Amino acid sequence: MHWWQTGILYQVYPRSFQDTNGDGVGDLAGVTQRLPYLAELGVDAVWLSPVFVSPMADFGYDIADYTAIDPLFGRLADFDALVARAHDLGLKVLLDLVPNHTSIEHPWFKESRTSRESARRDWYLWRDPAPGGGPPNNWLSEFGGSAWQYEAATGQYYYHAFLREQPDLNWRNADVRRAMHNVMRFWLGRGVDGFRVDVMWHLIKDAAFRDNPPNPAWREGEADYGRLLPVYSTDRPEVQEVVCELRAVIDEFPDRVLIGEIYLPVDKLVAYYGDELLGAHLPFNFSLIGVPWRADAIAALVDRYEAALPPGAWPNWVLGNHDRPRIVSRVGEAQAKVAAMLLLTLRGTPSLYYGDELGLPQVAIAPDRVRDPWERNLPGQGLGRDGCRTPMPWDSGPLAGFSTVEPWLPLNADAGIRNVAAESAKSTSTLTFYRRLIALRRAHPALSAGVYRPLAQSGSGFAYERTAGGEILAVALNFASVSVELSLESMPYGSRVLFGTRPGRDGEAVGTRLVLHPDEGVIISCES
Ligand code: NOJ
Ligand code: CA
Repeated sequence: MHWWQTGILYQVYPRSFQDTNGDGVGDLAGVTQRLPYLAELGVDAVWLSPVFVSPMADFGYDIADYTAIDPLFGRLADFDALVARAHDLGLKVLLDLVPNHTSIEHPWFKESRTSRESARRDWYLWRDPAPGGGPPNNWLSEFGGSAWQYEAATGQYYYHAFLREQPDLNWRNADVRRAMHNVMRFWLGRGVDGFRVDVMWHLIKDAAFRDNPPNPAWREGEADYGRLLPVYSTDRPEVQEVVCELRAVIDEFPDRVLIGEIYLPVDKLVAYYGDELLGAHLPFNFSLIGVPWRADAIAALVDRYEAALPPGAWPNWVLGNHDRPRIVSRVGEAQAKVAAMLLLTLRGTPSLYYGDELGLPQVAIAPDRVRDPWERNLPGQGLGRDGCRTPMPWDSGPLAGFSTVEPWLPLNADAGIRNVAAESAKSTSTLTFYRRLIALRRAHPALSAGVYRPLAQSGSGFAYERTAGGEILAVALNFASVSVELSLESMPYGSRVLFGTRPGRDGEAVGTRLVLHPDEGVIISCES
């Protein structure tokens, strides 16, 4: 099996991991300094959100130079040092590739916008106004308003799926493809182990730029973008060819991985594995982020996803990232360990978001500290992503050891006790639990590589089995704060609790009826 199948991914938001030069913003030297923490936590690969030259209109997802490090984060030498140190520690390094759009400051766009005859005009999506004037069609920006921006100088509009500072590239243009493939080769040649590809399902738009149809499910008060079904602006069939080409570049280098950021229902998501599995190795599966936190809904989701996977395709699971509210604030602190156990024992590659291992909550951001352009564009709609991007709290010292000056976003209010040092010293902490759980996962290949089989679902309880090389483990989880009884008919005599969310249950014999305490999860070793 490949490292990206059995391994654990860990996402670092570099602005918020560790500041080393006292400007209140995390940097590459900071990530390097903290790599031993990640190695000791037991993860296998670190994915860095973008660190490239950027005006930071969308905090690095607006890139002005794909092959240079933004001075805010350091220099190329700092990046090389990070990769070298990571590899010494046995950690892989993944970069964020943002091929759908550049910054307006990118030289390609600067050239493109100069005239209709510019050699790079066709690198972006320029269109004439609609016959009666106004935008070429009804497409909306994910960040609010029309996705079209008028340029008086040349009398045309350009398309931007996100901010107007993020013009979309034209992926039907072969030169654009070649240029981005060379960006990939640049980083892969420097030892990078793969990419997480930003908004992979957006890359190709309808050739005829047809209007998107209205979304009958949209309700007043919901985000504007949801008014239309983005059937012509996203997930076009031709995108699969683009994905295959990205994969072919990945395959020029040994043992690298291609991960796609794709927000689609599982039946559509799985197309991104590609024909013959020659697309993305891991189309990110975000379905746990949105599912109602109930045993029946989660059991049904796992069934649906497992059934949708093409033969041989490897699953993956995500609980959080830099765009979505923190898991603990969504499911409640009492469920933090159950959520961790689910993520780390389902079949497929788990992806952890920095700070989730501390039970870091969504942090409330005062209006005068809002930094996210999405929230600034559409204030008060609860779209802000700052609350899940706050600094990593390392210790109980001033500013939690993150920086020596006030950080770019506030720390969690309880950083004095919810930090790496304090939680490391406490046997019942979320962090200690994560460490033990990850160690257990590493020690039992059934959990990382084993076959999956659902065992029972009743009330708030859900149990499943993982089997490999003759070893059988069962996982039983209670998704509510009431106790629940599960009937485990096939449990062999001699089964015992191996590990659980509550201390004191380890070693307990398990029969065919298992009672779980409120908010409890257990891993059972089934030996006959
Ligand atoms: C998805 C990224 O995860 C998000 O942070 C960003 O704003 C958009 N893509 C635009 O690049
Ligand atoms: Ca810094």
